[in-house]
Amino acid sequence: MKITLAEKSRINEVDFDNLAFGTSFTDHMLVCHYENGKWQEPEIRPYGELNASYALHALHYGQSAFEGMKAYRNQQGEVALFRPEQNWARLNRSAERLLMPAVPEEVFLGGLKKLIDIDAAWVPQDEVKSLYIRPFLFASSEFIAARPSERYTFAVICSPVGPYYAGAVKVKIEDKFTRATGGGIGFTKAAGNYGGAFYPTAKAIEEGYNQVIWTDHANHERIEESGTMNIMFRIGDTMVTPPLTDRILAGITRESILTLLREWGHNVEERPITVTEVVEAAKTGNLHEAFGMGTAAVVSPIQQIGYQGTRYEIPNPNDGMAAKIREGLNDIRLGRVEDKHGWMVSVK
Ligand code: COI
Repeated sequence: MKITLAEKSRINEVDFDNLAFGTSFTDHMLVCHYENGKWQEPEIRPYGELNASYALHALHYGQSAFEGMKAYRNQQGEVALFRPEQNWARLNRSAERLLMPAVPEEVFLGGLKKLIDIDAAWVPQDEVKSLYIRPFLFASSEFIAARPSERYTFAVICSPVGPYYAGAVKVKIEDKFTRATGGGIGFTKAAGNYGGAFYPTAKAIEEGYNQVIWTDHANHERIEESGTMNIMFRIGDTMVTPPLTDRILAGITRESILTLLREWGHNVEERPITVTEVVEAAKTGNLHEAFGMGTAAVVSPIQQIGYQGTRYEIPNPNDGMAAKIREGLNDIRLGRVEDKHGWMVSVK
């Protein structure tokens, strides 16, 4: 791997007490190009500009996917990644569906560990701050014929982050727009899945919400995701989340939370959830909590759900399940309990 270090660190220019999500970037980045049918030597170099033609393929046809992951500094001071092999596997599932080449393990995991080790000073030791890592893969041929690209670029940039949302969110159950359809790319982290969500989300924000709850494409009756996250409800004494389909992103946070909840002995169900069921549970007081689950926000409590003009208040107890999960994940990430599952991967 070729490594070129920055002449001077920019870390002192960043206010770690006021981190806006994803706006400041660490000193270095990883770049690897795919050309002539094979991956070239990966390179770590100072974070910088993209030098590309306006014919850059990804800009025109959206052959582009990303990952979101985090590095933590535990209470012993060591820096570790959370389940990075899961992100590697998921990026390659996205790549396959978007007809992009799989990124080799040594490029993704090997390159990433080296990068985070070099920029380790940027990883905060904190309950709510961490280093957000953005690996991405895009078509980098420079032609505008509508056929697959021949060149691809894999890159990783990193940003120290604080909480994603300031507090609990208000969400609108979406009954017009759709995030994903059967046979489509909803299960991937294709860039366009997020770009396509901005308009419906902006409409919901105009109505005083923060996000939308996505429902199925056929009749908007099944709950699928919430904003950029998976969703979970506490209905009665059961934790319920929709099962994975080709319309739902297989969240690594989602899977980790399901594992913890089962270990803690809670009733957990992965099953279809209807809008009717959620609205009824909210009306009768049987909906005790609702929250999003994702890398960026980890657990994002929902305080209000709107459906067809009616708003239902949802409890967000300080000692509820969302808080317990956040604490449980932090215990593992910050090294306060034994990492039984081997989720933390040291960068050394
Ligand atoms: C998430 O954690 O929900 C994400 O997908 C990352 C977000 C910044 C798009």
